[in-house]
Amino acid sequence: MIIGNWKMNTPRSDALALANAVVEMKYLESTRVGICPPALWIDSITRIVKGSSILIGAQDCVGDKFGAQTGCINANMVHEAGCSMVILGHSERRTRFAETTEKLLHTIAAVLETGMFPVFCVGETKKQRESGKAFDVVAGQLRPLLTSGLDLGGIVIAYEPVWAIGTGLSATRKDIEEMHAIVREVINRDDTLVLYGGSVSPVSAADIFNAEGVSGALVGGASLSANKFAAIVAAWERR
Ligand code: PGA
Repeated sequence: MIIGNWKMNTPRSDALALANAVVEMKYLESTRVGICPPALWIDSITRIVKGSSILIGAQDCVGDKFGAQTGCINANMVHEAGCSMVILGHSERRTRFAETTEKLLHTIAAVLETGMFPVFCVGETKKQRESGKAFDVVAGQLRPLLTSGLDLGGIVIAYEPVWAIGTGLSATRKDIEEMHAIVREVINRDDTLVLYGGSVSPVSAADIFNAEGVSGALVGGASLSANKFAAIVAAWERR
C-alpha cells in the first residue's frame, strides 16, 4: 500500500492537476494506492478518481457525529465525501495539537464505524531515539489501541520517525526492520499493514521496501510530484 499525504500543500488547481496525473498511473491490481488531499478538495478529487482504484483519504477528522465544534470535520462527513481512509495521529498533529493515542481512540472508533480504515501514525523524535527510548515510545503509542476494545482488523499503522519527516533523512534499513518488528510484536496480528514514512523518495524507496516487515509507504513531499509518486509505486512493485 502506497499512500500520498499532500498535507497543507496544493492550491485547488494544483490539487486537481495532481489527482488527474495520479489517475493515469499504471500499477498492479495487488498494489493499493491512495492519496490524502487537503479536505476542501476531497469532494472534487473523488469525482476525478471515480472508476479508478485510487483510494481517497482525509488527513484528519474528529470522532463526534455532530455538535458545536467550530471548524471540525467528522468521520461521517469525510466518508460521505468519498474517503475510504483517514490519517490519524500524524506527528505534525501530535506536536501542534497535543494529540495522543488515548485522545484519538474515539476518532479511530468513529472512522472504523463508517467502514473506513485509519492510517494510524507512530514514531519517535530524534531526542527519544538518541536517548535509546525509540522502541518504548512507539510501543507506548500503540498500547492504548490494544486495551481499547476496538477491532484492529482494519487498522493500518504507519511508522514515521519524526526526525525523518520532511528532512531528507530516512531511517536505515536496520532501524526500520527493528521498529517494524516491535510494531508487529505489540499489535500481534498477522494481517496488519505496517507502512514506513519519512522522506520516502524514488531514491530511498527500493532499500526501504526491501526491509523486512514493511508493507508499503506513507509519502509526504514526494507525493506532490506525480512522477516521483509513480516511481515510488514502481519501486514497491519491483522489490
Ligand atoms: P515526507 O512526509 O515524505 O515529506 O517526509 C511523510 C509524512 O509526514 O507522512
